[in-house]
Amino acid sequence: MFTKINSVAVLGLECTPITVEVDVAGSWPGYQIVGLPDTAIQEAKERIRTAWKNTNLKFPNNSRIVINLAPAGVRKEGSMYDLPMAVGMYIAIEGPIDTDLSDALFVGELALDGTLRHTNGILPLAIFAEQHGYKKLFIPAVNANEASLIQGIDTYPVHKFQDVINHLTGKNKILPVPPQPIEEWFVENNYEMDMKYVKGQEFVKRAMEIAASGAHNILLSGPPGSGKTLLARTMPSILPKMTIKEAIEVTKIYSVAGILPEDKPLVTTRPFRSPHHTASGVALVGGGKFPRPGEISLAHRGVLFLDEFPEFPRTVLENLRQPLEDGVITISRAQGTISFPARFTMVASQNPCPCGYASDPDRNCICSPMSVARYQKKISGPLLDRIDLHVEVPKVKFEKLSKYELGEPSSEIRHRVEKARDRQTARFVGTIHTTNSEMKNREIREYCKLNDQSINLLKQAVQQMHLSARSYHRILKLSRTIADLDNKDNIETTHVAEALQYRAKVE
Ligand SMILES: Nc1ncnc2c1ncn2[C@@H]1O[C@H](COP(=O)(O)OP(=O)(O)O)[C@@H](O)[C@H]1O
Ligand SMILES: [Mg+2]
Repeated sequence: MFTKINSVAVLGLECTPITVEVDVAGSWPGYQIVGLPDTAIQEAKERIRTAWKNTNLKFPNNSRIVINLAPAGVRKEGSMYDLPMAVGMYIAIEGPIDTDLSDALFVGELALDGTLRHTNGILPLAIFAEQHGYKKLFIPAVNANEASLIQGIDTYPVHKFQDVINHLTGKNKILPVPPQPIEEWFVENNYEMDMKYVKGQEFVKRAMEIAASGAHNILLSGPPGSGKTLLARTMPSILPKMTIKEAIEVTKIYSVAGILPEDKPLVTTRPFRSPHHTASGVALVGGGKFPRPGEISLAHRGVLFLDEFPEFPRTVLENLRQPLEDGVITISRAQGTISFPARFTMVASQNPCPCGYASDPDRNCICSPMSVARYQKKISGPLLDRIDLHVEVPKVKFEKLSKYELGEPSSEIRHRVEKARDRQTARFVGTIHTTNSEMKNREIREYCKLNDQSINLLKQAVQQMHLSARSYHRILKLSRTIADLDNKDNIETTHVAEALQYRAKVE
Protein backbone atom coordinates (compact mmCIF):
# COMPACT_ATOMS: atom_id res chain seq x y z
CA MET A 1 0.00 0.00 0.00
CA PHE A 2 1.03 3.60 -0.53
CA THR A 3 0.87 6.34 2.10
CA LYS A 4 2.08 9.89 2.76
CA ILE A 5 3.27 11.48 6.02
CA ASN A 6 3.97 15.18 6.58
CA SER A 7 7.33 16.31 7.87
CA VAL A 8 9.51 19.40 7.72
CA ALA A 9 13.07 20.35 6.77
CA VAL A 10 14.74 23.04 8.85
CA LEU A 11 17.17 25.11 6.75
CA GLY A 12 18.89 27.71 8.84
CA LEU A 13 15.96 29.07 10.84
CA GLU A 14 13.44 28.55 8.04
CA CYS A 15 11.24 25.52 7.48
CA THR A 16 10.06 23.80 4.30
CA PRO A 17 7.40 21.10 4.15
CA ILE A 18 8.61 17.62 3.26
CA THR A 19 6.35 14.77 2.23
CA VAL A 20 7.48 11.30 3.19
CA GLU A 21 5.96 8.90 0.63
CA VAL A 22 6.07 5.21 1.45
CA ASP A 23 5.16 2.31 -0.75
CA VAL A 24 5.28 -1.32 0.39
CA ALA A 25 4.31 -3.88 -2.18
CA GLY A 26 5.19 -7.04 -4.00
CA SER A 27 6.68 -10.23 -2.80
CA TRP A 28 10.34 -9.74 -3.61
CA PRO A 29 12.74 -8.13 -1.13
CA GLY A 30 13.97 -4.56 -1.44
CA TYR A 31 14.45 -1.53 0.77
CA GLN A 32 15.19 1.84 -0.77
CA ILE A 33 15.14 5.42 0.39
CA VAL A 34 15.35 8.12 -2.26
CA GLY A 35 15.43 11.88 -1.98
CA LEU A 36 17.98 12.04 0.85
CA PRO A 37 21.21 13.30 -0.58
CA ASP A 38 23.84 11.72 1.63
CA THR A 39 25.06 8.74 3.59
CA ALA A 40 22.33 9.26 6.17
CA ILE A 41 20.15 7.11 3.86
CA GLN A 42 21.99 3.96 4.82
CA GLU A 43 22.01 4.89 8.48
CA ALA A 44 18.28 5.72 8.57
CA LYS A 45 17.49 2.36 6.97
CA GLU A 46 19.40 0.45 9.60
CA ARG A 47 18.04 2.53 12.49
CA ILE A 48 14.46 1.95 11.38
CA ARG A 49 15.00 -1.76 10.75
CA THR A 50 16.52 -2.28 14.22
CA ALA A 51 14.02 -0.05 16.05
CA TRP A 52 11.29 -1.95 14.24
CA LYS A 53 12.61 -5.29 15.46
CA ASN A 54 13.02 -3.97 19.01
CA THR A 55 9.42 -2.73 19.00
CA ASN A 56 8.37 -6.35 18.44
CA LEU A 57 7.03 -5.66 14.97
CA LYS A 58 7.61 -7.99 12.10
CA PHE A 59 9.84 -6.40 9.47
CA PRO A 60 8.50 -7.17 5.97
CA ASN A 61 11.71 -8.80 4.76
CA ASN A 62 10.05 -10.13 1.67
CA SER A 63 8.40 -6.93 0.47
CA ARG A 64 9.71 -4.15 -1.63
CA ILE A 65 9.82 -0.94 0.43
CA VAL A 66 10.35 2.39 -1.32
CA ILE A 67 10.50 5.62 0.64
CA ASN A 68 10.70 8.96 -1.12
CA LEU A 69 11.41 12.25 0.61
CA ALA A 70 9.89 14.95 -1.57
CA PRO A 71 10.71 17.46 -2.93
CA ALA A 72 14.07 16.01 -3.97
CA GLY A 73 15.61 19.46 -4.45
CA VAL A 74 15.48 20.41 -0.75
CA ARG A 75 18.51 19.46 1.26
CA LYS A 76 17.55 17.17 4.13
CA GLU A 77 19.43 16.02 7.15
CA GLY A 78 18.89 12.32 7.60
CA SER A 79 18.11 11.60 11.20
CA MET A 80 14.99 13.68 11.82
CA TYR A 81 12.94 11.75 9.25
CA ASP A 82 13.27 8.41 11.06
CA LEU A 83 9.91 8.84 12.79
CA PRO A 84 7.81 9.88 9.75
CA MET A 85 9.44 7.14 7.67
CA ALA A 86 8.74 4.50 10.31
CA VAL A 87 5.14 5.68 10.78
CA GLY A 88 4.62 5.68 7.01
CA MET A 89 6.02 2.17 6.78
CA TYR A 90 3.73 0.96 9.55
CA ILE A 91 0.63 2.30 7.79
CA ALA A 92 1.78 1.05 4.38
CA ILE A 93 2.23 -2.43 5.81
CA GLU A 94 -0.66 -2.73 8.23
CA GLY A 95 -3.25 -0.82 6.24
CA PRO A 96 -5.22 2.40 6.86
CA ILE A 97 -5.73 3.70 10.40
CA ASP A 98 -8.64 5.67 11.84
CA THR A 99 -6.62 8.68 12.94
CA ASP A 100 -6.54 11.55 10.44
CA LEU A 101 -2.93 12.56 9.80
CA SER A 102 -3.47 15.22 7.14
CA ASP A 103 -2.94 17.99 9.72
CA ALA A 104 -0.14 16.22 11.61
CA LEU A 105 3.63 16.69 11.41
CA PHE A 106 6.18 14.07 12.45
CA VAL A 107 9.87 14.49 13.23
CA GLY A 108 12.39 12.64 15.36
CA GLU A 109 15.46 10.45 15.31
CA LEU A 110 15.04 6.84 16.39
CA ALA A 111 17.45 5.07 18.68
CA LEU A 112 17.99 1.37 18.02
CA ASP A 113 15.67 0.39 20.87
CA GLY A 114 12.85 2.49 19.42
CA THR A 115 13.15 5.49 21.77
CA LEU A 116 13.18 8.95 20.27
CA ARG A 117 16.26 11.10 20.51
CA HIS A 118 16.54 14.86 21.01
CA THR A 119 16.05 16.59 17.67
CA ASN A 120 17.32 20.05 16.73
CA GLY A 121 15.17 22.90 15.44
CA ILE A 122 11.88 22.02 17.15
CA LEU A 123 10.97 25.63 18.01
CA PRO A 124 11.21 26.98 14.40
CA LEU A 125 9.28 23.86 13.39
CA ALA A 126 6.49 24.46 15.91
CA ILE A 127 6.21 28.09 14.75
CA PHE A 128 6.01 26.87 11.15
CA ALA A 129 3.34 24.30 12.07
CA GLU A 130 1.22 26.94 13.77
CA GLN A 131 1.55 29.38 10.87
CA HIS A 132 0.67 26.78 8.22
CA GLY A 133 -2.43 25.38 9.82
CA TYR A 134 -1.09 22.08 11.16
CA LYS A 135 -2.87 20.97 14.30
CA LYS A 136 -0.78 18.08 15.62
CA LEU A 137 2.92 17.76 16.19
CA PHE A 138 4.51 14.38 16.97
CA ILE A 139 7.99 15.00 18.32
CA PRO A 140 10.48 13.37 20.71
CA ALA A 141 9.28 13.74 24.30
CA VAL A 142 12.59 15.36 25.28
CA ASN A 143 11.71 18.27 22.98
CA ALA A 144 8.14 18.70 24.26
CA ASN A 145 8.80 21.75 26.45
CA GLU A 146 10.26 23.60 23.47
CA ALA A 147 7.16 23.05 21.31
CA SER A 148 4.80 23.87 24.18
CA LEU A 149 5.92 27.53 23.89
CA ILE A 150 3.76 27.82 20.78
CA GLN A 151 0.01 28.07 21.32
CA GLY A 152 -2.59 26.74 18.90
CA ILE A 153 -1.15 23.30 18.11
CA ASP A 154 -1.32 20.03 20.02
CA THR A 155 2.11 18.67 20.81
CA TYR A 156 2.28 14.89 21.27
CA PRO A 157 5.43 13.88 23.16
CA VAL A 158 6.70 10.55 21.85
CA HIS A 159 8.95 8.47 24.12
CA LYS A 160 9.07 5.31 22.03
CA PHE A 161 8.03 4.28 18.54
CA GLN A 162 5.58 1.88 20.18
CA ASP A 163 3.75 4.88 21.73
CA VAL A 164 2.90 6.32 18.28
CA ILE A 165 1.69 2.96 17.04
CA ASN A 166 -0.54 2.60 20.12
CA HIS A 167 -1.80 6.16 19.60
CA LEU A 168 -2.56 5.74 15.92
CA THR A 169 -4.31 2.42 16.36
CA GLY A 170 -6.34 3.83 19.24
CA LYS A 171 -4.92 1.34 21.76
CA ASN A 172 -3.41 3.91 24.06
CA LYS A 173 -3.64 7.61 23.27
CA ILE A 174 -0.71 9.96 23.94
CA LEU A 175 -1.82 12.99 25.93
CA PRO A 176 -0.78 16.29 24.32
CA VAL A 177 1.42 18.50 26.52
CA PRO A 178 -0.49 21.51 27.84
CA PRO A 179 0.69 24.76 26.23
CA GLN A 180 2.85 26.84 28.56
CA PRO A 181 2.42 30.61 28.50
CA ILE A 182 5.80 32.07 27.52
CA GLU A 183 5.68 34.45 30.49
CA GLU A 184 5.95 31.46 32.83
CA TRP A 185 9.39 30.61 31.47
CA PHE A 186 10.65 34.12 32.09
CA VAL A 187 12.66 33.68 35.24
CA GLU A 188 14.53 36.34 37.18
CA ASN A 189 18.04 36.72 35.81
CA ASN A 190 20.89 35.45 37.88
CA TYR A 191 24.03 37.27 36.85
CA GLU A 192 27.36 35.68 37.46
CA MET A 193 29.11 39.05 37.89
CA ASP A 194 28.21 42.47 39.20
CA MET A 195 29.81 45.84 38.48
CA LYS A 196 29.84 46.64 42.19
CA TYR A 197 32.80 44.28 42.71
CA VAL A 198 34.93 46.09 40.12
CA LYS A 199 36.98 48.70 41.94
CA GLY A 200 37.73 52.05 40.30
CA GLN A 201 37.74 52.06 36.48
CA GLU A 202 34.98 54.70 36.41
CA PHE A 203 35.93 55.80 32.90
CA VAL A 204 35.71 52.24 31.56
CA LYS A 205 32.43 51.63 33.36
CA ARG A 206 30.96 54.76 31.80
CA ALA A 207 32.07 53.58 28.34
CA MET A 208 30.50 50.18 28.97
CA GLU A 209 27.26 51.81 30.05
CA ILE A 210 27.18 53.70 26.73
CA ALA A 211 28.04 50.54 24.80
CA ALA A 212 25.22 48.65 26.54
CA SER A 213 22.72 51.49 25.95
CA GLY A 214 23.15 51.68 22.19
CA ALA A 215 24.54 48.16 21.52
CA HIS A 216 27.85 49.66 20.38
CA ASN A 217 31.01 47.59 20.00
CA ILE A 218 33.78 48.28 22.49
CA LEU A 219 37.51 47.50 22.63
CA LEU A 220 39.30 47.39 25.99
CA SER A 221 43.08 47.85 25.86
CA GLY A 222 45.36 47.55 28.84
CA PRO A 223 48.19 45.66 30.53
CA PRO A 224 47.68 42.09 31.79
CA GLY A 225 45.78 41.90 35.06
CA SER A 226 44.20 45.33 34.71
CA GLY A 227 40.72 43.76 34.77
CA LYS A 228 39.72 43.63 31.09
CA THR A 229 38.29 40.12 31.26
CA LEU A 230 36.59 40.91 34.57
CA LEU A 231 34.94 44.02 33.10
CA ALA A 232 33.82 42.27 29.94
CA ARG A 233 32.16 39.51 31.94
CA THR A 234 30.03 42.05 33.80
CA MET A 235 28.56 43.34 30.52
CA PRO A 236 25.46 41.06 30.51
CA SER A 237 24.50 42.34 33.97
CA ILE A 238 24.09 45.91 32.72
CA LEU A 239 22.25 45.06 29.49
CA PRO A 240 18.47 45.57 29.44
CA LYS A 241 16.29 42.59 30.22
CA MET A 242 15.27 40.62 27.13
CA THR A 243 11.86 41.13 25.62
CA ILE A 244 9.68 38.15 24.69
CA LYS A 245 10.30 38.82 21.01
CA GLU A 246 14.07 38.80 21.55
CA ALA A 247 13.85 35.66 23.70
CA ILE A 248 12.03 33.79 20.91
CA GLU A 249 14.56 35.01 18.30
CA VAL A 250 17.49 33.80 20.40
CA THR A 251 15.78 30.54 21.39
CA LYS A 252 15.20 29.64 17.72
CA ILE A 253 18.94 29.87 17.11
CA TYR A 254 19.75 27.75 20.19
CA SER A 255 17.10 25.24 19.13
CA VAL A 256 18.67 24.82 15.69
CA ALA A 257 22.14 24.59 17.24
CA GLY A 258 20.81 21.86 19.53
CA ILE A 259 22.01 23.42 22.78
CA LEU A 260 18.75 24.23 24.53
CA PRO A 261 18.53 22.64 27.96
CA GLU A 262 15.57 20.24 28.15
CA ASP A 263 14.11 21.77 31.30
CA LYS A 264 14.59 25.41 30.25
CA PRO A 265 13.29 25.73 26.72
CA LEU A 266 13.36 29.53 26.54
CA VAL A 267 16.57 31.59 26.57
CA THR A 268 15.70 34.53 28.81
CA THR A 269 19.19 35.75 29.72
CA ARG A 270 21.19 37.68 27.16
CA PRO A 271 23.85 35.40 25.73
CA PHE A 272 27.51 35.90 26.58
CA ARG A 273 29.77 33.99 24.22
CA SER A 274 33.54 34.01 24.51
CA PRO A 275 35.10 31.84 21.79
CA HIS A 276 38.79 31.07 22.21
CA HIS A 277 41.23 32.60 19.73
CA THR A 278 41.95 29.16 18.32
CA ALA A 279 38.32 28.88 17.14
CA SER A 280 37.94 28.23 13.42
CA GLY A 281 36.17 30.55 11.02
CA VAL A 282 33.22 28.15 10.80
CA ALA A 283 32.95 27.92 14.59
CA LEU A 284 32.92 31.71 14.80
CA VAL A 285 30.55 32.69 12.00
CA GLY A 286 28.74 29.41 11.30
CA GLY A 287 28.64 27.03 8.36
CA GLY A 288 29.39 23.39 7.69
CA LYS A 289 27.75 20.84 5.44
CA PHE A 290 24.38 21.33 7.12
CA PRO A 291 24.93 24.96 8.14
CA ARG A 292 24.90 25.52 11.87
CA PRO A 293 24.89 28.87 13.64
CA GLY A 294 28.33 30.00 14.81
CA GLU A 295 29.38 31.94 17.90
CA ILE A 296 28.26 35.26 16.42
CA SER A 297 24.71 33.94 16.04
CA LEU A 298 24.75 32.29 19.45
CA ALA A 299 25.65 35.78 20.75
CA HIS A 300 22.61 37.30 18.98
CA ARG A 301 21.00 40.03 21.15
CA GLY A 302 23.80 39.53 23.66
CA VAL A 303 27.56 39.85 23.93
CA LEU A 304 30.35 38.36 21.81
CA PHE A 305 33.51 38.63 23.87
CA LEU A 306 36.76 38.27 21.94
CA ASP A 307 39.46 38.11 24.59
CA GLU A 308 43.03 38.67 23.40
CA PHE A 309 41.63 40.10 20.15
CA PRO A 310 44.93 40.28 18.18
CA GLU A 311 45.59 36.59 18.83
CA PHE A 312 42.68 35.63 16.54
CA PRO A 313 43.90 34.84 13.02
CA ARG A 314 43.28 37.79 10.76
CA THR A 315 41.40 35.71 8.22
CA VAL A 316 38.99 34.60 10.95
CA LEU A 317 38.44 38.16 12.18
CA GLU A 318 37.79 39.54 8.72
CA ASN A 319 34.72 37.27 8.55
CA LEU A 320 33.19 39.49 11.20
CA ARG A 321 33.05 42.57 9.01
CA GLN A 322 29.83 41.82 7.14
CA PRO A 323 27.80 40.60 10.16
CA LEU A 324 29.03 43.56 12.24
CA GLU A 325 27.56 45.85 9.60
CA ASP A 326 24.35 43.96 8.75
CA GLY A 327 23.47 42.02 11.92
CA VAL A 328 23.09 38.87 9.88
CA ILE A 329 25.44 36.25 8.45
CA THR A 330 24.77 34.75 5.05
CA ILE A 331 26.29 31.38 4.27
CA SER A 332 26.40 30.32 0.63
CA ARG A 333 25.87 26.72 -0.29
CA ALA A 334 25.47 24.94 -3.60
CA GLN A 335 21.72 24.66 -2.93
CA GLY A 336 21.35 28.35 -2.14
CA THR A 337 22.05 30.65 0.76
CA ILE A 338 21.16 30.37 4.41
CA SER A 339 21.11 33.28 6.85
CA PHE A 340 21.35 33.40 10.59
CA PRO A 341 20.74 36.56 12.62
CA ALA A 342 23.89 37.87 14.32
CA ARG A 343 23.11 41.17 16.01
CA PHE A 344 25.46 41.17 18.95
CA THR A 345 27.47 43.68 20.93
CA MET A 346 31.14 42.93 20.48
CA VAL A 347 33.42 43.38 23.45
CA ALA A 348 37.08 42.86 22.53
CA SER A 349 40.15 43.05 24.71
CA GLN A 350 43.80 43.46 23.87
CA ASN A 351 47.15 44.09 25.45
CA PRO A 352 48.97 47.12 24.07
CA CYS A 353 51.92 44.97 22.89
CA PRO A 354 53.01 41.30 22.89
CA CYS A 355 54.51 41.47 26.42
CA GLY A 356 51.59 43.55 27.57
CA TYR A 357 53.35 46.33 29.45
CA ALA A 358 53.78 49.06 26.83
CA SER A 359 51.24 51.32 28.52
CA ASP A 360 52.14 50.37 32.09
CA PRO A 361 53.94 53.20 33.93
CA ASP A 362 55.47 50.78 36.48
CA ARG A 363 56.91 48.13 34.19
CA ASN A 364 59.32 48.13 31.31
CA CYS A 365 58.08 46.88 27.99
CA ILE A 366 60.54 44.40 26.47
CA CYS A 367 59.05 44.42 22.98
CA SER A 368 60.93 45.84 20.02
CA PRO A 369 59.18 48.71 18.20
CA MET A 370 58.88 46.38 15.21
CA SER A 371 57.03 43.69 17.15
CA VAL A 372 54.74 46.29 18.74
CA ALA A 373 53.89 47.64 15.30
CA ARG A 374 53.29 44.13 13.96
CA TYR A 375 51.07 43.30 16.91
CA GLN A 376 48.95 46.42 16.48
CA LYS A 377 48.68 45.86 12.74
CA LYS A 378 47.11 42.45 13.28
CA ILE A 379 43.66 43.98 13.37
CA SER A 380 42.71 45.65 10.13
CA GLY A 381 41.61 49.26 9.88
CA PRO A 382 38.14 48.40 8.56
CA LEU A 383 37.56 46.16 11.56
CA LEU A 384 38.80 48.76 14.06
CA ASP A 385 36.58 51.26 12.31
CA ARG A 386 33.55 49.19 13.25
CA ILE A 387 34.33 49.51 16.96
CA ASP A 388 32.66 52.62 18.37
CA LEU A 389 34.38 52.77 21.73
CA HIS A 390 38.13 52.36 22.18
CA VAL A 391 38.95 52.43 25.87
CA GLU A 392 42.21 52.28 27.83
CA VAL A 393 41.97 50.10 30.93
CA PRO A 394 44.74 51.24 33.29
CA LYS A 395 45.99 49.22 36.21
CA VAL A 396 44.01 50.08 39.34
CA LYS A 397 46.03 51.72 42.12
CA PHE A 398 46.48 49.68 45.28
CA GLU A 399 44.55 52.22 47.39
CA LYS A 400 41.47 51.78 45.23
CA LEU A 401 41.79 48.04 44.93
CA SER A 402 42.05 47.55 48.68
CA LYS A 403 39.04 49.73 49.48
CA TYR A 404 36.30 47.82 51.22
CA GLU A 405 33.29 49.74 49.85
CA LEU A 406 31.47 48.32 46.88
CA GLY A 407 30.87 50.27 43.69
CA GLU A 408 27.58 51.09 42.02
CA PRO A 409 25.58 47.86 41.52
CA SER A 410 24.81 46.63 38.02
CA SER A 411 21.06 46.90 38.66
CA GLU A 412 21.32 50.71 38.91
CA ILE A 413 23.41 50.99 35.76
CA ARG A 414 20.99 48.68 34.00
CA HIS A 415 18.12 50.90 35.02
CA ARG A 416 19.72 53.87 33.20
CA VAL A 417 20.55 51.68 30.21
CA GLU A 418 16.94 50.52 30.00
CA LYS A 419 15.70 54.11 30.03
CA ALA A 420 18.06 54.98 27.18
CA ARG A 421 16.82 51.90 25.30
CA ASP A 422 13.21 52.95 25.84
CA ARG A 423 13.96 56.19 24.01
CA GLN A 424 15.43 54.16 21.14
CA THR A 425 12.48 51.78 21.06
CA ALA A 426 10.12 54.75 20.75
CA ARG A 427 12.32 56.28 18.03
CA PHE A 428 12.44 53.15 15.88
CA VAL A 429 8.87 51.98 16.38
CA GLY A 430 7.57 50.44 13.14
CA THR A 431 11.09 49.92 11.71
CA ILE A 432 13.42 46.92 11.79
CA HIS A 433 15.89 48.77 14.03
CA THR A 434 16.00 48.51 17.80
CA THR A 435 19.14 50.37 18.82
CA ASN A 436 21.12 53.42 17.72
CA SER A 437 24.05 51.32 16.53
CA GLU A 438 21.81 49.81 13.83
CA MET A 439 21.00 53.18 12.19
CA LYS A 440 21.83 53.52 8.51
CA ASN A 441 22.49 56.77 6.63
CA ARG A 442 18.82 57.69 6.33
CA GLU A 443 18.16 57.39 10.08
CA ILE A 444 21.45 59.11 10.91
CA ARG A 445 20.33 62.09 8.82
CA GLU A 446 17.02 62.18 10.59
CA TYR A 447 17.99 61.53 14.21
CA CYS A 448 21.57 62.78 14.52
CA LYS A 449 21.22 66.47 13.68
CA LEU A 450 23.97 68.61 15.16
CA ASN A 451 24.17 72.29 16.13
CA ASP A 452 26.79 74.55 14.50
CA GLN A 453 29.19 74.29 17.42
CA SER A 454 29.13 70.51 17.30
CA ILE A 455 29.61 70.54 13.53
CA ASN A 456 32.76 72.65 13.94
CA LEU A 457 34.08 70.39 16.65
CA LEU A 458 33.53 67.31 14.52
CA LYS A 459 35.07 68.95 11.48
CA GLN A 460 38.30 69.63 13.38
CA ALA A 461 38.36 66.12 14.75
CA VAL A 462 37.84 64.51 11.35
CA GLN A 463 40.79 66.51 9.97
CA GLN A 464 43.12 65.96 12.90
CA MET A 465 42.33 62.30 13.48
CA HIS A 466 42.06 61.39 9.75
CA LEU A 467 38.68 59.79 10.34
CA SER A 468 36.92 57.81 7.64
CA ALA A 469 33.33 58.37 6.56
CA ARG A 470 32.38 55.26 8.51
CA SER A 471 34.04 56.61 11.65
CA TYR A 472 32.21 59.89 11.20
CA HIS A 473 28.84 58.14 11.07
CA ARG A 474 29.74 55.99 14.03
CA ILE A 475 30.59 59.08 16.08
CA LEU A 476 27.18 60.50 15.24
CA LYS A 477 25.45 57.32 16.36
CA LEU A 478 27.47 57.20 19.56
CA SER A 479 26.61 60.86 20.27
CA ARG A 480 22.94 59.96 19.85
CA THR A 481 23.28 57.23 22.49
CA ILE A 482 25.10 59.54 24.90
CA ALA A 483 22.30 62.10 24.44
CA ASP A 484 19.72 59.35 25.10
CA LEU A 485 21.48 58.41 28.34
CA ASP A 486 21.29 62.11 29.21
CA ASN A 487 17.56 62.01 28.36
CA LYS A 488 17.94 64.76 25.73
CA ASP A 489 16.03 65.03 22.46
CA ASN A 490 18.83 66.98 20.78
CA ILE A 491 22.49 66.03 20.54
CA GLU A 492 24.54 68.67 22.33
CA THR A 493 28.20 69.59 21.95
CA THR A 494 29.16 67.83 25.19
CA HIS A 495 27.71 64.59 23.83
CA VAL A 496 29.77 64.86 20.64
CA ALA A 497 32.87 65.74 22.65
CA GLU A 498 32.44 62.67 24.81
CA ALA A 499 31.85 60.43 21.77
CA LEU A 500 35.13 61.71 20.28
CA GLN A 501 37.06 60.63 23.36
CA TYR A 502 36.29 57.01 22.55
CA ARG A 503 37.66 57.13 19.03
CA ALA A 504 40.93 55.33 18.29
CA LYS A 505 43.86 57.65 17.81
CA VAL A 506 45.22 56.99 14.35
CA GLU A 507 48.92 57.81 14.01
N1 LIG B 1 39.20 46.90 39.17
C1 LIG B 1 39.27 45.71 39.77
N2 LIG B 1 38.50 45.45 40.85
C2 LIG B 1 38.55 44.24 41.45
N3 LIG B 1 39.35 43.24 41.04
C3 LIG B 1 40.13 43.43 39.98
C4 LIG B 1 40.14 44.68 39.29
N4 LIG B 1 41.00 44.59 38.27
C5 LIG B 1 41.52 43.35 38.31
N5 LIG B 1 41.02 42.65 39.34
C6 LIG B 1 41.37 41.28 39.71
O1 LIG B 1 42.46 40.87 38.91
C7 LIG B 1 42.20 39.64 38.27
C8 LIG B 1 42.75 39.67 36.86
O2 LIG B 1 41.94 40.49 36.07
P1 LIG B 1 41.63 40.15 34.56
O3 LIG B 1 40.30 40.71 34.27
O4 LIG B 1 41.82 38.71 34.31
O5 LIG B 1 42.75 40.98 33.83
P2 LIG B 1 43.10 41.08 32.30
O6 LIG B 1 42.04 40.40 31.55
O7 LIG B 1 43.16 42.55 32.02
O8 LIG B 1 44.44 40.46 32.14
C9 LIG B 1 40.70 39.49 38.29
O9 LIG B 1 40.33 38.15 38.49
C10 LIG B 1 40.27 40.31 39.46
O10 LIG B 1 40.12 39.52 40.62
MG1 LIG C 1 42.23 38.73 30.33
